[in-house]
Amino acid sequence: MKLLLDTADVGRIAQLMPFMPIDGVTTNPTILSKESDDPKATIDELKKLMNGKMIHAQTTAYDSHGMFEQAKTLTEYIGSNFYIKIPMTMQGLAAIEKCKAEGLNVTVTAIFTPMQALLAAKLGADFVAPYVDRLDNITSDGASVVGEIVNILENYCYDTEVLAASFKNVQQVYNVASVGTHAVTVNADLCQKLIFHPFTDKSIEDFDFDWRVKYGDKQITDFFKK
Ligand code: G3P
Repeated sequence: MKLLLDTADVGRIAQLMPFMPIDGVTTNPTILSKESDDPKATIDELKKLMNGKMIHAQTTAYDSHGMFEQAKTLTEYIGSNFYIKIPMTMQGLAAIEKCKAEGLNVTVTAIFTPMQALLAAKLGADFVAPYVDRLDNITSDGASVVGEIVNILENYCYDTEVLAASFKNVQQVYNVASVGTHAVTVNADLCQKLIFHPFTDKSIEDFDFDWRVKYGDKQITDFFKK
């Protein structure tokens, strides 16, 4: 399962990158607008940090031609690791087709139903991004929708991957992993929470205590030095 960060906070990304197995970052207009007055400067920072890993950014145009032109401009600037996020609209559908005919990477976003995902896959989308927490908040079941999408794409042997998005807690991430999502994108805080367990911390503290009681500051490799 691919793990992406759903943030443009370069400070937090830089903190996590050396430790977590991050495959890329996803942004959207809300995320970029929160970060700085200059989205290009933010993208420049993301380019440096990602160093060839995936970067996803969304179109801001409303019509398919505008979306396609933005996709070309951003792909040319960022490189082959860039994925244009195209919203699930009628204009978006036309834009997916144009982008894929040009060989551009496409993530179709704001997916709430399996039918939307199926249409995006039929047009050759690389990823579809269903919004788990936003589904949960309308008394739907985000993880079930993700599972249905995974099954439908498999039924038709589409290469399109499911990039589940919009998470607020670890349980939601676990639930989509259980139904076979190909990728998730999570915010920086949630990413860190993925490894938290108090018994893990307690176990490690106990090992450390027992070692130090017996051997003080010595490291295990000190006993192997000639
Ligand atoms: O980037 C799209 C998606 O992750 C939105 O998440 O948290 O705004 O529902 P959220």
